[in-house]
Amino acid sequence: MPELLNVRDLKVKFRVRDMLSSLLNPGQPSFIEAVSGVSFDINPGETFGLVGESGSGKTTLGRSLIGLVPPSAGHIRFRGEALSGLSEKAYKAHRKEMTMMFQDPVGCLSPRLKIRSILLQPFYIHGIPVADKQAKVDELLSMVGLPSQFGDRYPHQLSGGQARRVGLARALALSPKLIIADEPTAGLDVSIQGDILNLLGEVQERAGVSVLAITHNLAVIRHVSDRMAIMYLGRFVEIGDTEGIFAAPAHPYTQALLAANPVPDPDIEHPRVPLTGDVPSLMNRPSGCEFHSRCPNCEDICRTEFPEARTVWPGRSVMCHFPLIKGESR
Ligand SMILES: Nc1ncnc2c1ncn2[C@@H]1O[C@H](COP(=O)(O)OP(=O)(O)OP(=O)(O)O)[C@@H](O)[C@H]1O
Ligand SMILES: [Mg+2]
Repeated sequence: MPELLNVRDLKVKFRVRDMLSSLLNPGQPSFIEAVSGVSFDINPGETFGLVGESGSGKTTLGRSLIGLVPPSAGHIRFRGEALSGLSEKAYKAHRKEMTMMFQDPVGCLSPRLKIRSILLQPFYIHGIPVADKQAKVDELLSMVGLPSQFGDRYPHQLSGGQARRVGLARALALSPKLIIADEPTAGLDVSIQGDILNLLGEVQERAGVSVLAITHNLAVIRHVSDRMAIMYLGRFVEIGDTEGIFAAPAHPYTQALLAANPVPDPDIEHPRVPLTGDVPSLMNRPSGCEFHSRCPNCEDICRTEFPEARTVWPGRSVMCHFPLIKGESR
């Protein structure tokens, strides 16, 4: 079956200084590259997990896929059609099929609109007539486990978990093929997190929709995703099937993340790899391997030579000069 989404060498740049200060301080960069050459595919019905520290570019990648920020380079194909370079109008047609649950669940809902209007918004935006509006709102609310009275509420009258449900209902309104779920469980109690993840799983199975799940939370990624990528300074430093990565992480950064957040599993022994130092600034990327300043296995080559992504075993690609392959000692 062909993939649903293909992304190749995608880059997103932001201007961080205005023209005048760039002219006055020519030595400093005027742009940062928040997404720096990312390639991956998502298959129909699959959940692809994206994990990384704050500022690694997860949200920017999601927003660029749905056309909210323009890529500066690279290619996006959705259902076989190239999206790169499309006009806003042409992109809009694809937003019916690729929707986003935003990171800020309440802030992304218009505060002056009742939930009923918020759920009908996607139909107005895309000029799709709705014969029975009340029935449509009730149907969407019931898909996410909310009673129909919620249609009369305003966003500020929702709890965090309820706001997530409304965000999911709105994302589902036009029967998309892909939902980008940005931090769907952030800020929720553990039991509510479980409810939201189960709901996402149920909806996915029922509607056959693919999900790009973005989160800091490794337990969430492990629970929901079939394949996953670990993002560092806008790049995918490791990508592969989720169980394989949890069982044998190959990049020292992945190892360090897993060691810092052990997922309870007696079969998995996480090596102790301390993650020291802060994430480097995108304004001043380290030379060579960009993880070298924090890597416990850093060698001379790591300081000078950028490690291209390489396949260490089928389906697993790693950006590291010395990937840690289970059972092998260096
Ligand atoms: N509109 C913008 N203009 C300038 N810089 C931006 C803009 N949006 C994001 N950035 C920068 O791009 C980088 C990546 O941000 P992004 O929000 O994608 O990270 P993230 O991985 O989603 O982080 P978090 O886990 O905190 O949500 C950050 O350095 C951020 O400051
Ligand atoms: Mg984010």
